[in-house]
Amino acid sequence: MSFRDIDEIIKERKDNFLLPMLQAIQAKFGYVSETNAHYLSRKTGIPFSKIYGVITFYEMLYTEKKGKYIIRICNSPSCYLNCSLNLIKFLESSLKIKSGETTKNKKFSLEIVSCIGCCDKAPAMIINNKVYGNLDENKIKKIISGLK
Ligand code: FES
Repeated sequence: MSFRDIDEIIKERKDNFLLPMLQAIQAKFGYVSETNAHYLSRKTGIPFSKIYGVITFYEMLYTEKKGKYIIRICNSPSCYLNCSLNLIKFLESSLKIKSGETTKNKKFSLEIVSCIGCCDKAPAMIINNKVYGNLDENKIKKIISGLK
């Protein structure tokens, strides 16, 4: 981790738009640490409270390191009506974590999210950038065991 990387991001974002800078920091480090948020605040003059507010407002920004695979399972109406809650419980018990947590080996993070736009394939989830639909426990088991 280097502040030089953040300096570069600030230099590239001459418009000083906060969200793209935070996304770039997260892409570089995997999350936006409090230390990096303070540094960004000092360098840009954007109040830390505003930066922290943006980080905690957007689900896709993290304040701590997440797992190699981020499982985002939908629990909005179409998925919910197709038993997504049972699948969430199944994932929690298989991975031995609650939603919002990361496994000890930092391999998986689990998040419950709102509609991911795949209602026709409900119940659905996204792992990193790949969408999986028409899920059931067997399908999830196979998907998870296929992730190295
Ligand atoms: S409700 Fe789950 S993908 Fe739309």
